Amino acid sequence: MAIKPLRKAVFPVGGLGTRFLPATKAVPKEMLPVVDRPLIQYAVDEAIEAGIEQMIFVTGRGKSAIEDHFDIAYELEATMSARGKSLKLLEQTRLAPGAVAYVRQQEPMGLGHAVWCARDIIGDEPFAVLLADDFMVGEPGCLKQMVAAYEKTGGNIICAQEVPDDMTHMYGVITPGTRDGALTEVKGLVEKPAAGTSPSNLAVIGRYILQPEVMRILETQGKGAGGEIQLTDAMARMIGDQPFHGLTFQGKRYDCGDKAGYMTANLAVALTRPEIAETVRIFAVDLLK
Ligand code: UTP
Repeated sequence: MAIKPLRKAVFPVGGLGTRFLPATKAVPKEMLPVVDRPLIQYAVDEAIEAGIEQMIFVTGRGKSAIEDHFDIAYELEATMSARGKSLKLLEQTRLAPGAVAYVRQQEPMGLGHAVWCARDIIGDEPFAVLLADDFMVGEPGCLKQMVAAYEKTGGNIICAQEVPDDMTHMYGVITPGTRDGALTEVKGLVEKPAAGTSPSNLAVIGRYILQPEVMRILETQGKGAGGEIQLTDAMARMIGDQPFHGLTFQGKRYDCGDKAGYMTANLAVALTRPEIAETVRIFAVDLLK
């Protein structure tokens, strides 16, 4: 069967971000900056690099800053132009006309429910899901690496990463089948396994390439771990019907939904920016002496 090209990406941004309160009380977690760009901007750039043409944001209450971020800010641009300031930095936020769609998740019922809210825009096409708070640094980017694998295997591909034993209960975890380089066959999936019951250390990270059938499955998906409708549970029901692989991504992942992960991401990225790297490095070395 021909492999359908991947053109659409879903960005679920309807979560409450409770681990980052009070910062996320009025500001969406996805708008927290790593150095000078919000997390959602990095995720959108990663999708564009991977060839995605349509960005679908699943938003919720209090998330309008994300919509504003990807709009043209006429007053700001006019004032800056009148003052002779360059608009170069703002240009990074421009998306092609018609390349953006917003769907509202009226109630944060879980990641699976958020993805399902985008079903009518996805239609009968494969699609990517990117969780912006999983901040991925790689060359090429994580989704581009996954697309390269998808073009060979088709079906469903999830990003996989080895995590320590005492952290598996925080993730969706893969029951691995045969391994072929960075690709692992997915034989089973379990969301947030209780301590001591995890099928492996291979955790699911916030990047997915999924076939549209998952939308039909989500339709009847009941609540799972944490009382939420889990994407992992719906994906598990597709195993066996379609190719399903985990791809171990070449690069670094920072969990920016977590305070320590967010701080390390800022430090790591700051050290790659020529205009601030030296100042930050000197300060960090001095602080750690
Ligand atoms: P998280 O598990 O990180 O939950 O969601 P959260 O609510 O965002 O944050 P905490 O745990 O309370 O601090 C994983 C991803 O799924 C999205 C989130 O926005 C995040 O990208 N999500 C989660 C939704 O879009 N809707 C939901 O109902 C739940």
